[in-house]
Amino acid sequence: PAIRLEDYQPPVYRIEKVHLTVKLDPAETEVVATLSVARQADVQAGTPLVLDGDELSLRELKLNGEVLPDDGYTVSPDKLEIHAPPSKPFDLKITTQINPEANTKLMGLYRSSGTYCTQCEAEGFRRITYFLDRPDVLAIYTTRVEAPKNDCPVLLANGNLMEKGDIDGTDRHYALWHDPHPKPAYLFALVAGNLAQVPDRFTTASDKKVDLNIYVEHGNEGLCSWAMDSLKRSMKWDEDVFGREYDLDVFNIVAVSDFNMGAMENKGLNIFNDKYVLADPETATDQDYANIEAVIAHEYFHNWTGNRITCRDWFQLCLKEGLTVFRDQEFTSDMRSRPVKRITDVRLLKTHQFPEDAGPLAHPVRPRVYHEINNFYTATVYEKGAEVVRMLKTVLGDEGFHKGLDLYFDRHDGEATTIEAFLTCFEDTTGTDLSQFALWYEQAGTPVVSVASAYDADRQTYSLSLSQEIPPVPGQRSSKPAVIPLRFGLLGPDGKDMHATSASGIKISGDVLLMEKSRHEITFSGISSQPVMSLLRAFSAPVRIDQKFATADLQFLAARDNDPFNRWQAVQSLAMQELVRLTGTLRHGKLGAPADGVVSVFGAVLNDQNLDPALKALALTLPSEADIAQEIGKNVDPDAILAARKQLRQAIARQFHGALRAAALEFAPRGDYSPDAETAGKRALSNRAAYYYAVSNTEDAAQFTWDRFSSADNMTDRLAGLMLLVHDHMPGETAALDLYLSRHEKSSLAMDKWFMVQATAPGDGTLATIKSLFSHPLYDATNPNRVRALLQSFATGNATQFARPDGAGFELVAESVLEIDKRNPQVASRLLTSFRSWRALDANRCALAESALMKISSCEDLSRDSRDIIDRTLQ
Ligand code: ARG
Ligand code: ZN
Repeated sequence: PAIRLEDYQPPVYRIEKVHLTVKLDPAETEVVATLSVARQADVQAGTPLVLDGDELSLRELKLNGEVLPDDGYTVSPDKLEIHAPPSKPFDLKITTQINPEANTKLMGLYRSSGTYCTQCEAEGFRRITYFLDRPDVLAIYTTRVEAPKNDCPVLLANGNLMEKGDIDGTDRHYALWHDPHPKPAYLFALVAGNLAQVPDRFTTASDKKVDLNIYVEHGNEGLCSWAMDSLKRSMKWDEDVFGREYDLDVFNIVAVSDFNMGAMENKGLNIFNDKYVLADPETATDQDYANIEAVIAHEYFHNWTGNRITCRDWFQLCLKEGLTVFRDQEFTSDMRSRPVKRITDVRLLKTHQFPEDAGPLAHPVRPRVYHEINNFYTATVYEKGAEVVRMLKTVLGDEGFHKGLDLYFDRHDGEATTIEAFLTCFEDTTGTDLSQFALWYEQAGTPVVSVASAYDADRQTYSLSLSQEIPPVPGQRSSKPAVIPLRFGLLGPDGKDMHATSASGIKISGDVLLMEKSRHEITFSGISSQPVMSLLRAFSAPVRIDQKFATADLQFLAARDNDPFNRWQAVQSLAMQELVRLTGTLRHGKLGAPADGVVSVFGAVLNDQNLDPALKALALTLPSEADIAQEIGKNVDPDAILAARKQLRQAIARQFHGALRAAALEFAPRGDYSPDAETAGKRALSNRAAYYYAVSNTEDAAQFTWDRFSSADNMTDRLAGLMLLVHDHMPGETAALDLYLSRHEKSSLAMDKWFMVQATAPGDGTLATIKSLFSHPLYDATNPNRVRALLQSFATGNATQFARPDGAGFELVAESVLEIDKRNPQVASRLLTSFRSWRALDANRCALAESALMKISSCEDLSRDSRDIIDRTLQ
């Protein structure tokens, strides 16, 4: 059934307090929930109370201490209805029994390598007990956890620990936790197991001492220091930048190895996929370190944006996610390099969100309808949601933005609220009408901004025509013009921005043009020489720019733009133009040669002594195959794209092999490994240079690559080397895989990389490799990280093999989806989204994808998750 935003009704009953006793047992856990329930004032007495459930079995039901007669209620695994509740507040005591060991969906209470843990967002609490499982029902929770002392020395739940002790006459013990902050059920959490505790401490700005703990499997204690350090920096930063302090005596983090997503912000008890906690130089890359820092921060920041202030309903998901992603991006920008972070985030947005927005799964940042909410934890809600918050800041200015946000924290603390309420805070503090801005939450699709310009030397004017349009999106026939802030500079011949004496045709504030209409005709006066327009600096809006550039102008921007983002963008645009052209030549016969002008730009970047190494590494990274496919847009042939990209890479490598080899050596950091941004940036440049050098056709390229791999003393360099050897099928490919395996077989996070490298190797042999890896002793189809390492990375990171012209790649993924769906619908439906751009492929591949999709669709007992994705993908 479709759930619609317009059908929202407030709950008819409140649940003010929850007392839970959870008696843990692998197969027969008993949950006793005592709910203090009260009818809402405007609701008629006797209105039935309908509680959500999911695969539950009821053992006992009492109302105000009395067993409820059979005709007083109806119950099924997914629903408990009390026909005529008392009109005064009452207590409902519900006893259910659940089976954590058999919970392969990893939603609700489950067991992962002997540890009991929970995942309740979005609708997992109803798999623990019957409840009003919706985010606008806020209750105060007290949780008593009971388990055998031997198996589960550690017993955790939300809030502060009140009591702990033995249960007399048994081998069991208990812990009693109390969370004083009212919260929705999706933030409930419980953990029990035999875990090691890594303690630390943080003192808040108002001198409150907070105990910090990270709980991990024994033996992993040494892998937590980076996560702990990130946590303390996050806590401090949120005080300094947003004025937000922590609000409990303890903050616990638990790392588990079976987890459907990245991590979860449960109040006072964050639960993490261990890949976002555990790190040492031997098993984690620089990217892993950066991800850990960002995810730890993200979950911590949710304490205010998500937990203290939560969502009224799941349509408002972006209220907490978009805002929290924005906050974690800002954190990373402050901790590391702002331009590098911006480029990294925009690449992510363009690779994941733009295709989503351009395909059958497109939806607004705030959707209006869903069938399965778990399918809306998307790049659009998260990443585009963060872009919208960033634009709000650009439009209102720093001061206006922070004033509005302070009001939001003040006004809505303790509430479950909406996007409208959020925006109203900014309207109230700044007096800005945000009704048109709000369209960013309502309209799906990526706006295209078309740009034309002319310079009049006689009049000394520069004129600019801007127009905007959103291409058609499923279920969205027309669209209205959005508010688009375009940061810009008119670049003079000296590389400095020119300043107009006056400008007309658009609102300008500082260096931002504010598009509000579908067309703007803009004239800048007093422009003494022909400028080059640098538009969308720092990627100030999530739009595509359609602007015809002369190659010379792009080369000028690539060399001289004083905005680092647009400098990077200009290099990318040059490469992209050339890659699209080369792909085209291949489709019409034989591969052309890359233009010298483009190749030489890469040489200029490589030899620029003033560029920060991290930025240089990014500028030297060619647009991905997926990016090129997107740019081409229709009739896509992944083989042609791969060949064109390889052609350009080789041309760069052959022309600059000397400088590349030198850079690979020069920028390799010496001494003890450090994950800091500056050192990581040097490593990135060193490895980027080695990436080119590997295909330089020089005598020692193969040996050089092998030596870098085999002598690497950290995972970043080792993995970079392994990728080259395996993806370029260089001598030593198999030996390298074996060497890596024997070195890392005990570390499952390191082994995920081993599976990933093989799954993403181009070449006809990969499919057979994947099939044989299914029966590798270390492959585990029940572990989401392992499944994603082998299958998700194949489907999203190996375009030529996934979209093989014989259809075998699609078939492999389709069969896997069907098999995984029986066990874990969320992992299956996520894998299924890798088909989202199928209609952009050439006719043959398109037909093959369709038949694989039809095969999935014809399966009658698909989960709701996968059914929803398949229906939308095929519509
Ligand atoms: N709220 C979590 C986070 O952003 C993610 C939860 C994902 N839940 C889901 N059902 N997919 O940190
Ligand atoms: Zn989040």
